[in-house]
Amino acid sequence: MSIFFATGSTKKRGVNMNWHNILGKKLTGVLITAAAVAIALALLSSGIANASLKVVGHGSKMSLDPKSIPEHLKPNWEIMKKKCSRCHGLDVELETLQKGVTPSGVPYTRASIKAYGMTMLRKTDSGMNAAEVRKVLELLYFLHDEAAK
Ligand code: HEC
Repeated sequence: MSIFFATGSTKKRGVNMNWHNILGKKLTGVLITAAAVAIALALLSSGIANASLKVVGHGSKMSLDPKSIPEHLKPNWEIMKKKCSRCHGLDVELETLQKGVTPSGVPYTRASIKAYGMTMLRKTDSGMNAAEVRKVLELLYFLHDEAAK
C-alpha cells in the first residue's frame, strides 16, 4: 500500500511538474511572440512615419534624398539648400519636419512653418528675398504633408 502511494505521489508530482513546464514554456512562448509583434509593429509604424521624408547624412550635413523631391519642387529645393543652410544646417528644417517639433520645442505646423520662414527672412543679412522664402515655404508645406502621412 505504502509503495503504491509512494509511486502514486511521485507520478502525480511528475505529472504536475510536466504540466508546469509545459505551461511555463507556453507562457514564455506567448510572451516572446507578443514582444516580437510589439517590436515589429513599432518598427513598421516608425518606418511608415518617416518613409516619405527620406534624408541622407546626419547633423549639419543632413540633406534631403533627391528621390523624395518631386520634379516641380526641385527648383525650390535648390533655393532652400542654398539659402536655408547659411546660418544653420538643413537638419534644423529636416529633423524638425521628421519630429514635428522644432529644436526649441515649437510644433512644426503649416502656420509655424510660415512664421519661421518670415522670421528667417527678417533676420539681418538673411540673404533671401520674399519670393525665395515663398518658394521654400511651398516645398516645406509639401514635405510637412509627406512627413505626416
Ligand atoms: C541669417 C541667418 C539664417 C538664415 C539665412 C536662416 N536661418 Fe533659420 N535660424 C537662424 C537662427 C540664428 C536660428 C536660431 C533660433 C532663432 O533665432 O530663431 C534659426 C532657427 C531656425 C529654426 C528652428 C527654430 C526653433 O524654434 O528652434 C527653423 C525651423 C529655421 N531656422 C528655419 C529656417 C528656414 C526654413 C530658412 C530658409 C528659408 C532659414 N531658417 C534660414 C538663422 C537663420
